[in-house]
Amino acid sequence: MPGGALAATSDVNRIEAPVTWKAYLICAFASFGGIFFGYDSGYINGVTGSAVFIEIIEGPGATALTGSHQSLIVSILSAGTFFGALIAGDVSDIIGRKYTIIIGCLIYIIGVILQVAAHGLGLIVAGRLIAGIGVGFESAIVILYMSEICPRKVRGALVAGYQFCITIGLLVASCVDYACKNRNDTGSYRIPIGIQFAWGLILGGGLLFLPDSPRYFVKRGRVEKARASLCQLRGQPADSEYVEAELAEIIANEEYERSLIPAGGWFNGWANCFKGSLFKSNSNLRKTILGTSLQMMQQWTGVNFIFYYSTPFLQSTGAISNTFLISLIFTLVNVCSTPISFYTVEKFGRRPLLVWGALGMLICQFLVAIIGDTVGFNKAHLDPAGNTVANNISAVNAQIAFIAIFIFFFASTWGPGAWIVIGEIFPLPIRSRGVALSTASNWLWNTIIAVITPYMVNTDEANLKSNVFFIWGGLCTIAFVYAYFLIPETKGLSLEQVDKMMEETSPRTSSKWKPSTTFASDMGIKDGEKLGTNITEDVERKGSIF
Ligand code: BGC
Repeated sequence: MPGGALAATSDVNRIEAPVTWKAYLICAFASFGGIFFGYDSGYINGVTGSAVFIEIIEGPGATALTGSHQSLIVSILSAGTFFGALIAGDVSDIIGRKYTIIIGCLIYIIGVILQVAAHGLGLIVAGRLIAGIGVGFESAIVILYMSEICPRKVRGALVAGYQFCITIGLLVASCVDYACKNRNDTGSYRIPIGIQFAWGLILGGGLLFLPDSPRYFVKRGRVEKARASLCQLRGQPADSEYVEAELAEIIANEEYERSLIPAGGWFNGWANCFKGSLFKSNSNLRKTILGTSLQMMQQWTGVNFIFYYSTPFLQSTGAISNTFLISLIFTLVNVCSTPISFYTVEKFGRRPLLVWGALGMLICQFLVAIIGDTVGFNKAHLDPAGNTVANNISAVNAQIAFIAIFIFFFASTWGPGAWIVIGEIFPLPIRSRGVALSTASNWLWNTIIAVITPYMVNTDEANLKSNVFFIWGGLCTIAFVYAYFLIPETKGLSLEQVDKMMEETSPRTSSKWKPSTTFASDMGIKDGEKLGTNITEDVERKGSIF
């Protein structure tokens, strides 16, 4: 078949080659993109605390950043990521997933250079905005690319590798901050910023050697390229029957989807994300709402509250005074628990992970709130040095333990789960934009929560103390109900089968759904029948969608 013909199959199990180690490693490489995400969210706290950096921004003699400079420097990255993610979806449909990620790395590197060169606020802000656009490119398109190239049986585990890299990025950021914090030269901020250069070079450079997504090539009608890419990704020879069958399936599905919603121009492409009925679970509108709300719910679990604002709790025990060690506890629990999901997401599936994970999280959050309100953190006194010290240290220790268990649940379920599911639920014609919108939603809610939480916990504002965990517990309860009613089971299915499953079942019955036919056979193509490589010609020849 290397002559350019595709052979269809009606056997649902033969639509993909067995997974080889090489295939596994190629797909795993892209997960490195998670480092950008984690490192960039984590390192800035150390930089804004550096004495040298403060003087560079505020002038000689200053000992702290003004509130407005602090929030501008921190939040401008999110503005960049939000727009970067949205723009990247479109770019990836035009120049491909691979080159969009590489361009994202270049943009990111430019942003890093500007920040390293900065001697004042202007370049720091401009640099973070530009680096943020690069991070937005990475966070959306790495998920899209990985979901499209990974073999279906290990897709969840591989995309969970992206979340693992996010957690490692957060860990590396706190270690680098710690190592540089006592420097009294510009290295105290230039080193943490400059290290990011390496992330851009590794990801961008490495990707040059990887193939682009076969689904992107099919979308552009370039079947030969799609075939070559599949051969490389699956570690199969040029005449592999598995590759032909997988390719036929991707093409048949793309044609089918396009017949339902024609692509049209740029505006139409975006409008397509919002088409269909609100009451049909497989409409594009519902899928877009599902992806964006899932990422919103992931942020609503309150995980970043723990990473950004939990230090006072730990300090109040009086047991640990080193703030680095304090934050290290939670960061390490986060890193170590994530790999559990590599196994569970494929063994039990996405749905159980999100449903049981939310249950675990809500129990922990409510326990932290109740213990804190009755005997723990809320009952404290000031020691002679003016530090808040808990009256009942064991009770606060119990709160800390439940916060750590909460992180365990997040890291092994909702952390990876949200990214895996958004990569799987969108049909090819709207996939890049759907993933982009969902990723932008993650960054938007991340920022909204970062902006409003100080008002909830600051002593001169609402001063909710432990009671803030009642809010997170309530939101995790919503996440539990949300996951039970709305998350479909996508485990083990090809992206094309996910499409069909969402058409034929409801989320609650989805785990029982088994593919019985292939797209190719549904469209009247017989087993082993060979088709030419010009998709449009084939459609006309068959007089049907394919
Ligand atoms: C979330 C981030 C969070 C991180 C923690 C990610 O999945 O989107 O907001 O900081 O997990 O590991």
